[in-house]
Formats: sequence, structure tokens, C-alpha cells
Amino acid sequence: MLRALAFTVLSISLVVGENSSPPAKGQNVVILLIDGYGAELFNRTNSAIRVGAEALLTNGVKAGYLRPVFPTLTYPNWFSLATGLYVESHNFTSDYMYDEEHNIYFERDEGPNDTNHIWWEGLPDPLWYTVGKANIDVHCYWFGSCHRPHRDLIVQVPKPRRHNFKNHDVVNVFNHLEGIFKHVKKYQQYKQQLVLLRYNGIANALRQFGEESDAINDALSNADVLIRDIQEKMTQHELLDSTNLIVLSDHGLMEIYEDEKYYIEDCISDLSLIQRVVNSLSIMMVYPVEGNTDRIFFELKSCDQWLALGDYDSEESPVVQIYRKEELPDTLYWKHSRNIGPIVLIARPGAAIISRDLPTNEVLETHYRDLHVHSGWDNHNPEMQGIFMARGPAFKPNEEIPSISIIDIQPLVLNILDIESKHTANGSLENIQGVLTAGWEDRTATDDASTTSFLTAACLTVVGTLVRHLM
Ligand SMILES: *[C@@H]1O[C@H](CO)[C@@H](O)[C@H](O)[C@H]1NC(C)=O
Ligand SMILES: *[C@@H]1O[C@H](CO)[C@@H](O)[C@H](O)[C@H]1NC(C)=O
Ligand SMILES: *[C@@H]1O[C@H](CO)[C@@H](O)[C@H](O)[C@H]1NC(C)=O
Ligand SMILES: *[C@@H]1O[C@H](CO)[C@@H](O)[C@H](O)[C@H]1NC(C)=O
Repeated sequence: MLRALAFTVLSISLVVGENSSPPAKGQNVVILLIDGYGAELFNRTNSAIRVGAEALLTNGVKAGYLRPVFPTLTYPNWFSLATGLYVESHNFTSDYMYDEEHNIYFERDEGPNDTNHIWWEGLPDPLWYTVGKANIDVHCYWFGSCHRPHRDLIVQVPKPRRHNFKNHDVVNVFNHLEGIFKHVKKYQQYKQQLVLLRYNGIANALRQFGEESDAINDALSNADVLIRDIQEKMTQHELLDSTNLIVLSDHGLMEIYEDEKYYIEDCISDLSLIQRVVNSLSIMMVYPVEGNTDRIFFELKSCDQWLALGDYDSEESPVVQIYRKEELPDTLYWKHSRNIGPIVLIARPGAAIISRDLPTNEVLETHYRDLHVHSGWDNHNPEMQGIFMARGPAFKPNEEIPSISIIDIQPLVLNILDIESKHTANGSLENIQGVLTAGWEDRTATDDASTTSFLTAACLTVVGTLVRHLM
């Protein structure tokens, strides 16, 4: 039965061929996520290496910046992108987390216990799940966590295309473009397509060599060529009427000030009263030995090294702010998450909190050595803002809005694909209403995941979604 169905549809696609261009079933979305490409960096990038981006903007929409969530680190923002939720509603609190109950660490997907289900427990549906369940093909290229099973669905991602921070190579998105757009073209009359691409060249170059390097110029140029090539492929395969391209980043990166590095050990009289610290540089979570939280909090709060600067100049924010977990500002939308230590240190942008002797996790130590730039600081700081631009049938040409939030992306993409999420996102379309083409508000979500097309589609998909029905 399954095979028969698959065969029928395949034959149709062969008969119809590629030239007659039958209408697409609905709009497609291609997202290119560029790690660590800040809006400020974009703004000061030489126009000679912004050719692809300018072509996109002439035909589409630009946001002055994309506001990340706090902390402006990778995992919190990747999951806010995927769910449309603040961190405290998805609980990927930081790139490094400690689970007190099970005594294990999460270490940026590099640690031995990072695949443990407890980190993902209760995770609201990520974009690829909601989209896959709506019978739309999902294709992931180095998109974090996309290959992980969620409820009753697995997006099949071949191993070489899975995100892995252990591999420091720059991923080669270029090699896949022709295959991707051929596939979109071929199948769009039967199924809508969502393609999630990630490029890590800019973040890699910044972290390793800093902003004043040839490496960063090469990476900026490569990213731009990528943006240009994607549009060329879309043109070549006549996809401009059916396919939207969104280019964005998760957060910016900024230089760590050499003269604003602070050792937490310099504030603590008895190091044995601290069990562990988790994260460093922009934020640090402190886990005191039971019964010592008040004492450690007081020592940190009154520590000379950051008081000196903070107290005398009231205009400037303190170098390091010390909070008990329950006193963290509500406006961070962070404190109700699990896996935040009893005491949290938050550094002023550019300043860094470091630990020399206290127990922490190994991956953290090796990762943070010799780092030129970092993120994690205040999500309103200009250097932490990301980029957003988009073109396609859903977007007006040559439009600009002041900003968009990372939590607005999930509602935006679902709206273009015309499907609904089980949860209500914290982000909304409000920010971007003015840049969407007329008529979008009239669309209603349809539920056409009929069994037949569902199964047929599953067989048909070559590199797309493998749907495992757990009945
Ligand atoms: C980048 O420039 C745009 C103007 O094109 C401006 O609206 C935006 O605020 C700038 N972004 C940052 C982070 O400076
Ligand atoms: C991983 O889990 C094992 C078994 O519970 C534990 O012994 C080890 O310390 C953990 N390591 C990390 C980095 O969480
Ligand atoms: C996040 O953590 C909080 C605090 O432990 C918990 O109440 C909440 O249910 C968690 N949310 C999710 C989505 O797991
Ligand atoms: C964010 O969305 C979640 C899920 O819809 C909701 O439970 C939570 O209250 C929202 N948070 C805020 C600050 O509105």
C-alpha cells in the first residue's frame, strides 16, 4: 500500500517534469542562521562584501536589529528561535547548566551527559516539530538539536549535517545549495518545504582571531556570497514566487576587555564554601555549600574589586551585578527557569568574571581559553543585537522596521507556512505586520494532514522528514 502510493506520486512528478512549473502547494521558507553576526558588525561591514545582502534588502525587508533573549548565548537563543518563547518557558537557561538533582552538567552539547533526556523534559514543540507534524518537509543543515527526537517525530538529518560544537570546522553550506533548491522545486507542488541552514564561519573567525583580522573579512565575504548564491539558486529554479528567504543571527559578539577581567576567588575568604561555579565571562552561577548562600552572597556583594568602579560613578552600571536567583529582574524573563544557581553574577558588557580554582566543568575551561570575543551580556546592548532580513512572497520589497525579537521568528514562520503552534509564543507578528504583503492576515490555518498524504509524503521524502508514527 505504502509503496503503491509512493510510486503513484513519483510517477506524476516524472510526468509533470520540472519545466511546466505547476503551482506550489503553499509558501516555502528557507532560513539561514549566521552564528554571531551582530547588527553593529553588519552595519560597519564594507559595502563591497554586502552585495548579496543588499540584493536581498532591495527586494525585501530589513530590521535595524534582531533582539536576542537574555543571556545572549547560543543555546538560550537557539531555543527561543525554535519555540518563540522566553528562556524561562523553554528552560535552556545557558550554554552550560548544572542539574542539582542528578548531579550532571550540560556542556554546549559537547559533554558526556548532554544527550540525557532531562535537559529536554517539558520542552515546548520546536519549529521543526510543529512544521513536520503539519506534513511539511523539514531539512536541517547544522541546525542545533534538529535531529533529536521530539515526541512522535524525528527529523532525519544525516550525521555529517548535524550540528556539533566539538567539530570546529566551518561548515560547507555552499556544496548543498544546488541539491536543496532542486529538491524544493521538484516537490513543492506536493508539499511545502522548510529548509534550516546554519553558517558558523563568522562566529568561528571572531572567536579565534577577533574583529581586526583577515579571517573575519574572509568570513564576512563568504557569508555574503552565501546570501547571494541562495538568491541566485532561487532565481534559477523559479522559486521567487513561492519561497521566502530569511537571513538572521542569534546574537552579536563583542570583545572581552583585557583590563576588566575579575577572578571570583578574589572575593571569597573560604573557597571550600563553594561547591561549584557554572559559566564564566559574561555570567556566572554560584552554588555555595548548603547553608552558606547568605554568607557567600554578602561576600560577593561587598567585594572591593567591582565596588570600586560601580559605586563612584552612578551613571555607569556596576561592573558586576550580584543577584540571588529569586531576586533576578523579571524583565530578563529568565529567573523562573530550572538550572540557575542560587547566586548569579552578571557582568557589564565587555567585562568578564573568571574562576581560577573553583570546581567547574572541563569543556567550559577549554572552550573559554584564548577567546577573543564573547556574548551572554545584556540583551539590550547594541553589540549583542543580531541581524534580520527577509524576502519572498510574504514580504514587501524595500521595507525597513526598527527591530524584531528572536521570539517573533517562530510565529512569523508558522504564519507564512499557514500552520498553528500548540503553544502560544511570547513573541508576535505585531512588530513586523507592516512589512508583510497584503492579505496575509486573512489566511487561516488549515489542517490537511490527512493520513494518505502524510504516509505518501513520508515515503517520498529523500532527505527530509522521517515521520515515525508511534501508535
Ligand atoms: C544598524 O543600522 C540601522 C540603520 O540602517 C539602524 O536602524 C540600527 O539600529 C543599527 N543597528 C545597530 C545595532 O547599531
Ligand atoms: C555524567 O554522568 C555520570 C554518571 O551519572 C557522572 O559520573 C559524571 O560526573 C557526569 N559528568 C558530567 C560532566 O556531567
Ligand atoms: C522550567 O523550569 C521551571 C522551574 O523548575 C518549571 O516550573 C517549568 O515547568 C519548566 N518549564 C519547562 C517548559 O520545562
Ligand atoms: C510566555 O508564553 C508561555 C506559553 O504560552 C506562557 O506560559 C508565559 O506566561 C509567557 N510569558 C510571558 C512573560 O508572557
